[in-house]
Amino acid sequence: MNKHPLIEMKGIYKKFGAIEALKGVDFIINYNEIVGLIGDNGAGKSTLINILSGVYQPDKGKIYKEGKEVIISSHTDAIKLGIETIYQNTALVDQMSVMRNIFLGREMTLPFGFLNKRDMKQKALQILTESIAISGIKSPDQLVEYLSGGQKQAVAIARAVHFKSQILLLDEPTTALSVKESRKVLEYIKHLKENGVSSVFVTHNMEHVYGIADRLVILSRGEKIKDVRKEDTSLEELSEIMISH
Ligand SMILES: Nc1ncnc2c1ncn2[C@@H]1O[C@H](COP(=O)(O)OP(=O)(O)OP(=O)(O)O)[C@@H](O)[C@H]1O
Ligand SMILES: [Mg+2]
Repeated sequence: MNKHPLIEMKGIYKKFGAIEALKGVDFIINYNEIVGLIGDNGAGKSTLINILSGVYQPDKGKIYKEGKEVIISSHTDAIKLGIETIYQNTALVDQMSVMRNIFLGREMTLPFGFLNKRDMKQKALQILTESIAISGIKSPDQLVEYLSGGQKQAVAIARAVHFKSQILLLDEPTTALSVKESRKVLEYIKHLKENGVSSVFVTHNMEHVYGIADRLVILSRGEKIKDVRKEDTSLEELSEIMISH
C-alpha cells in the first residue's frame, strides 16, 4: 500500500484579477477512487481542474504526486504525470479522424518522421474494439466531426486508457450528452477504475456522479465546504448543503 495519496493539492489559491477563484483549497485523489467534484456556477471547480491539468498555475499552494512535489506548467507536464483531462467539448480535433485524434501529440512515426499510419490504424482498431467498445464508430478513419457528443467523449477516454493515464479529469463531461450517452460515459469511468485509473468527475448535477463516486467534494465560492466518503453521507445531506450555501 502506498502511504501517500495519488495526488494531493495543498492550500491552493488562485485569483483572476479581483476574483478569488480558489481560497486555500486542499484536494486529494486516492488510488482507485472516483471523486465527484460538485458545486455551483463559479465555485472554482474548473479552476481546480485546470490547475491540475497545467492550464493555470496556482498563486499559492503545492501539488504532490505520490508524495513528491510536482510543478505542472503545461498540458504536456500533466500528461507526463499520467493526468489526462476531458473537457466538456473534449480536446478532440473535429477535422481529424478518430485514429489521428487518439494519437494526437503522440503519433507513431517511421524513420524520417513520416507518420506510421498503418500501425496507428491497427492500434486504433484494437483500442476501438477491445479496450472500450464505442458504439457507432465503425472505422478509425471516421472524422470526429460526425461523431455524437458521447462518442467523442469515448474516443477521448479511449485515448486515456491506451496511454495508461493514472488520473482522468472530466470537467462536466455529460452536460451536453443524452441520458443514454451520459450513462455510457459513467460506465467507462467505472470500467477505468477497475483497471486502476482514478477519476475526478466535475458536475453541477449531483445525481449524475453520486452513483459512481467513492468520495464527494463540494466547493462553494472558492472554498471546500464538504469532503466525504459516500458511505458517510447521503444524496439528501449533500443536496441540503448545496442548497443552503
Ligand atoms: N480565466 C479567467 N479569467 C477571469 N475569471 C475567471 C477565469 N476563470 C475563472 N474565473 C472566475 O473564477 C471563478 C471560478 O470559476 P470556475 O470556472 O472555476 O467555476 P466553476 O465551479 O467551474 O463554475 P461552472 O460550474 O459554472 O463551470 C468564477 O468567478 C469565474 O468567473
Ligand atoms: Mg466549470
